[in-house]
Amino acid sequence: MHILLFLGALLGAAGVSAVESPHKRALPKRKAAIPNTERANSAHAKRAHLNDKTKKFAVDGKGLPEVNFDIGESYAGTLSIDDDPDNENQLWFWFFPSENPAAGNEITLWLNGGPGCSSLDGLLQENGPFLWQSGTFRPIANPYSWVNLTNMVWVDQPIGTGFSPNAKGAVKKLKTEHDVSVDFMGFWKNFMETFNLTGRDVYLTGESYAGQYIPYISYNMLQANDTDYYNVKGIQINDPSINEGDTMTEAPAINYVNEYSNIFNLNETTMAWLNQRNEECGYADFMENALSYPPKGPIPTAPDSYRKHCNLWEYATSAAIYINPCFNFYHIIGQSGNPAVCGSR
Ligand SMILES: *[C@@H]1O[C@H](CO)[C@@H](O)[C@H](O)[C@H]1NC(C)=O
Ligand SMILES: *[C@@H]1O[C@H](CO)[C@@H](O)[C@H](O)[C@H]1NC(C)=O
Ligand SMILES: *[C@@H]1O[C@H](CO)[C@@H](O)[C@H](O)[C@H]1NC(C)=O
Ligand SMILES: *[C@@H]1O[C@H](CO)[C@@H](O)[C@H](O)[C@H]1NC(C)=O
Repeated sequence: MHILLFLGALLGAAGVSAVESPHKRALPKRKAAIPNTERANSAHAKRAHLNDKTKKFAVDGKGLPEVNFDIGESYAGTLSIDDDPDNENQLWFWFFPSENPAAGNEITLWLNGGPGCSSLDGLLQENGPFLWQSGTFRPIANPYSWVNLTNMVWVDQPIGTGFSPNAKGAVKKLKTEHDVSVDFMGFWKNFMETFNLTGRDVYLTGESYAGQYIPYISYNMLQANDTDYYNVKGIQINDPSINEGDTMTEAPAINYVNEYSNIFNLNETTMAWLNQRNEECGYADFMENALSYPPKGPIPTAPDSYRKHCNLWEYATSAAIYINPCFNFYHIIGQSGNPAVCGSR
């Protein structure tokens, strides 16, 4: 699962007009969302990382289909997960060096989750230099691109995810997050070498199921004691999946529905039933204990949601979608569903 949180520039523009002119109904200023392409085109001149070793990965920043502005210097392709460059198991990356001098000596990784989601999800819809949001006609430049602050690389992993190829049968051999992180370590060394990034400060970021990947990868990196490649300086996990679904989602679900009952907008019968089941399934007690401070120990295991009528998050969100087909359970004050009916987020 992943969370899509971004409100478009469109909403921002409408908001500003509404403040300036309280008596007029603000019409969304669609043109405000279209970037000034001339300025964007003149902005990127140098290609600091272009050399014989990297040129096969160079992306023509002005040549992307549907993108009518220069996305700047970037490199994409696949690299092996170990010392054998011909290993069929490779990871796909898209590397964007920053033009911001303050980004100098660091490299920041972004991973989406899933497991099995391409990190293009984050690049194209959340934090990349250009975004193509659902319900919109074409990509636009992202003024909040993380490349504006740091050197970014988005990677599709584990092997077999997104554009990352795998040898036949290789994916099945990955049994644990440790196995996955070992592959990543091999890839990362090759990446750091290819782009001459050795010694740089490494930051690992990502969302959702990457909340599992990142602690394992960064732990392994720190264990390697090799600051040439694995000089981990920080991690950031967003809406991370750091425990089982029952603990992360089902147990707290009804507390959340109660807190935001004005948004879920469920009727009294449904609310009463959900709260009764919350008691009977043992979630109410579980949350009472789990939320005690200071914690009594590691996060305890929640009651099993596979018991009859205990998958309460599914009940609550299905009920919300039943009365509002545009309800977005990833972002309850946003919307989702058919853009023609619901508009874009
Ligand atoms: C970051 O983005 C802002 C807004 O587009 C731009 O004005 C600024 O020059 C950018 N900074 C860098 C270092 O690229
Ligand atoms: C690699 O980077 C270092 C500085 O980080 C620089 O001194 C060196 O010239 C670079 N080598 C190549 C081949 O670009
Ligand atoms: C790195 O250092 C730690 C702590 O000193 C040690 O436990 C670990 O075995 C070392 N790892 C390697 C690969 O040398
Ligand atoms: C309450 O909502 C549920 C689910 O949406 C619906 O089936 C039921 O008829 C509603 N009850 C009342 C009293 O409106």
